Amino acid sequence: MKESKLLIVGQKNELFTLLTRQFEGEFDYMWLDPTHLRSELKNVDPALVLLLHEPGKDLETHAYLQQELNGTPVVFVHESHDFQLFRDLVRAGAIDYFVIPEDLNGLENQLAIMLARLEKSPEKEKQLSFKRGSGQVFAFYSGKGGSGKTLLSTAFAQTLKFESTAQVLYIDLNLQFGGGESYLGVETTRNILDLEPVIKEMTEQHLRNVTEKEPLSKMELLISPCDAELAEYITEDFVTRLLRVCRRAYDFIIVDLPVNMDERTYTALVEADRIYYTTLMDTPSIRVFKHTEELFQKLGIPTADRLELVLNEVGRENELSKKDIERFIEYPVAAEIRRDIKGIQTAINKGETLRKLPKEKKLTPAAKDMRKWVVSMLK
Ligand SMILES: Nc1ncnc2c1ncn2[C@@H]1O[C@H](COP(=O)(O)OP(=O)(O)OP(=O)(O)O)[C@@H](O)[C@H]1O
Ligand SMILES: [Mg+2]
Repeated sequence: MKESKLLIVGQKNELFTLLTRQFEGEFDYMWLDPTHLRSELKNVDPALVLLLHEPGKDLETHAYLQQELNGTPVVFVHESHDFQLFRDLVRAGAIDYFVIPEDLNGLENQLAIMLARLEKSPEKEKQLSFKRGSGQVFAFYSGKGGSGKTLLSTAFAQTLKFESTAQVLYIDLNLQFGGGESYLGVETTRNILDLEPVIKEMTEQHLRNVTEKEPLSKMELLISPCDAELAEYITEDFVTRLLRVCRRAYDFIIVDLPVNMDERTYTALVEADRIYYTTLMDTPSIRVFKHTEELFQKLGIPTADRLELVLNEVGRENELSKKDIERFIEYPVAAEIRRDIKGIQTAINKGETLRKLPKEKKLTPAAKDMRKWVVSMLK
């Protein structure tokens, strides 16, 4: 009988049952109990390993698999989001992780792709091609100025940091004028350009030497040089390399973009896992959205399953309702953030951020909407 390529390492618990039921008729698999790895691993030669979460054991089991199987890709499966653990595993060499049951279909698809590729290249050399950093890049964009990109992206990043254990980095790619640092009340001497001399061999350490910390949430930031001339040193290649290293070092990378579509903005939009398009609820904004959509198509920036709308300054006095917007624009609405002049103006005037603490009770309307969005995104 042909030996199956997939090895599941884990206890025969609920997670195991769920997965194997899903795999029935789809993939053959071998199975090993992690407590017997040392005696039994030498009898198998899998192309791909699926490691199931076991409290307190994952890193150790993973390290053993890496050592014994010599570069065989390991995919990790867990019942909940444990960013610290995911990060540690990816750093140790795991190529991907999935949260089950919510990612069950994603896992199945990914396994099918990987197994098909490995079939073609049994020498395991393909491993690198699907190795990904674990971090997700969310780009905030709008074709219209003043629609809340900077306010919402900073608040999103800060809220995400407060509401989870994830490592969060905010990058301000408004290279000429900046802006993120003032919403976050961060004074800084370092900026993104300090990475320029090392960009070709940039490591996580270089990156962390240049980031600043937002004092309340401890979220990290890469600040804009706020200088049009200096900004010219930041190229398309710079942005690509930067985001690649960021994905290894952080769980979420929130990128604030300017309206103008130069090659840096373009690169960030192409690299992003998700584009949050911020818009106000009026006809001019819809018109700009339509132009932007056309431009994205011309430039080859994919939008299907990536672009989501963020309705900003939602309120009764708006020209258009959510229903109207949905009639004109077919992309999903990720969030609705209320118009919150009092909360936001007070914060800006006092040089304060929208959030101050984790588990904060008294939140202004915009901060509440933001929390709702972030929590739903995490699920
Ligand atoms: N939900 C809201 N309620 C009240 N005011 C808001 C809201 N969202 C944004 N604003 C205000 O709108 C203004 C513009 O916001 P912001 O700077 O985030 O826009 P932007 O899209 O980044 O602009 P630019 O294109 O210039 O970068 C700010 O003064 C901000 O305080
Ligand atoms: Mg802005």
